[in-house]
Amino acid sequence: MVTKKIISCYSNQTNSLSTNNIMDLILKVWRQKNNDDNGRFENYKVKADEHMSFLEMMDVLNEDLLAKKEEPIAFEHDCREGICGSCNMVIDGRPHGPNNGTTTCQLHMRFFKDGDTITVEPWRVKAFPVIKDLVVDRSAFDRIIQAGGYISVNTGQAQDANAIPIEKDLAGQAFDAATCIGCGACAAACPNASAMLFTSSKVNHLGLLPQGEVEHSKRVQAMVTQMDEEGFGMCSNTGACEVDCPKEISISNIALMNRSYIGSVFGSDKGA
Ligand code: SF4
Ligand code: FES
Repeated sequence: MVTKKIISCYSNQTNSLSTNNIMDLILKVWRQKNNDDNGRFENYKVKADEHMSFLEMMDVLNEDLLAKKEEPIAFEHDCREGICGSCNMVIDGRPHGPNNGTTTCQLHMRFFKDGDTITVEPWRVKAFPVIKDLVVDRSAFDRIIQAGGYISVNTGQAQDANAIPIEKDLAGQAFDAATCIGCGACAAACPNASAMLFTSSKVNHLGLLPQGEVEHSKRVQAMVTQMDEEGFGMCSNTGACEVDCPKEISISNIALMNRSYIGSVFGSDKGA
């Protein structure tokens, strides 16, 4: 229903806009029935208005496919405003496409040009098995959070949180780490499919604050252990995760988590 509204909205706009705004594109999209299927690229022609978002362009393509009684392309999305972390695709070789600090849903077609061929693939990470086409199973991230990404001590009421003074730099650092949306682009960008940027963001945003410091040692050990058990690789030190993270989370979080992990093993850790 929502898709139909978007399509009709763009159909109406398309009629009233100059044809200069309309691009003829070729989409080279990865199609895969399930994780056991080998998968392959399929080419599709699509017309896109430069004002469309990338996902709206995908909606238009799916409407075309449905009209032709062909199987629509499965892709994940929810908020369409850079919050939920579900709109995951590798576009022309980069997770979330060519622009820094942008999720796929925030990417607009004006960044492409008429006649372009655009390649669209799912995250290529062993720990994220393909469910269908561009949709992967990111429940490995949920299990890392379940291993320790929470605070179980009594932190009191909201007014108690405000009564604990926290240095501005520290609060800012914790807030930056907390902006991680769990999309998995860091693992998709890393040559070793490492989840260390994600895990370190979740470890640090809690461990940097006094309320999270109490369980910090236990938390970092549990979350790193779970990350390894899920089959993610070690940090490749290439920095690709930071470059492709749509929330521009600093790779310094990984160094901080490593220091905390070593400190927790040798009993010297006092918090992040
Ligand atoms: S660290 Fe960045 S790329 Fe990785 S899951 Fe969080 S938001 Fe996505
Ligand atoms: S659809 Fe939610 S971040 Fe893109």
